[in-house]
Amino acid sequence: MVEVKNLVKVYKLSLKQMKKEKLKESTKVAVNGVSFTANPGEIFGLLGPNGAGKTTTLRCMATLLKPTQGQIQISGLDVEKQSYEVRKKICFLTNELKLDTHFTAQYTMEYFGAFYGLEGTYIKNRTEMLFDRFGISQFRDRKIGEFSTGMKQKLSIAVSLVHDPEVIIFDEPTNI
Ligand SMILES: Nc1ncnc2c1ncn2[C@@H]1O[C@H](COP(=O)(O)OP(=O)(O)OP(=O)(O)O)[C@@H](O)[C@H]1O
Ligand SMILES: [Mg+2]
Repeated sequence: MVEVKNLVKVYKLSLKQMKKEKLKESTKVAVNGVSFTANPGEIFGLLGPNGAGKTTTLRCMATLLKPTQGQIQISGLDVEKQSYEVRKKICFLTNELKLDTHFTAQYTMEYFGAFYGLEGTYIKNRTEMLFDRFGISQFRDRKIGEFSTGMKQKLSIAVSLVHDPEVIIFDEPTNI
């Protein structure tokens, strides 16, 4: 369960950013009082035009940005105060994830699985299931450098799910 209450995020802008965007103010309100609840089993989407603050909201939920105001709870945990526990329960897929082209698909799963402190057998079983589901099995020993864009995206999704997260946060997962 995800609960976002009155989320506000204000970015401080550098002089360079102000110049680039032709802004006079040194701050930018990216999210202004957003509240929503996503229940277990629910697929919840954030829709809005470019620059509406969707990515900023998701980055706050994923513990990557500190909210300026408001509270976010994930599975009853406070994302600011219990960020370490929250990170074990969530995944965050963004097109900023860059896979190492020298790694094989199998090794990539083992590499990311190790970050979560998962055991070898667990990673192996989870990889088997996810590769089967996404049709990656026959490419498991190929280097990512040889993968098509769509294959890389499918592997990115599999990687993000290696620790069987309770809450899945995807930012533009179809944007390949
Ligand atoms: N690091 C940053 N520093 C300053 N301003 C930022 C930063 N990141 C985003 N912004 C600004 O905050 C606002 C919200 O951006 P955000 O990326 O959250 O929007 P979005 O809804 O995800 O847009 P899109 O649909 O284009 O992905 C925009 O005006 C953007 O220019
Ligand atoms: Mg975005």
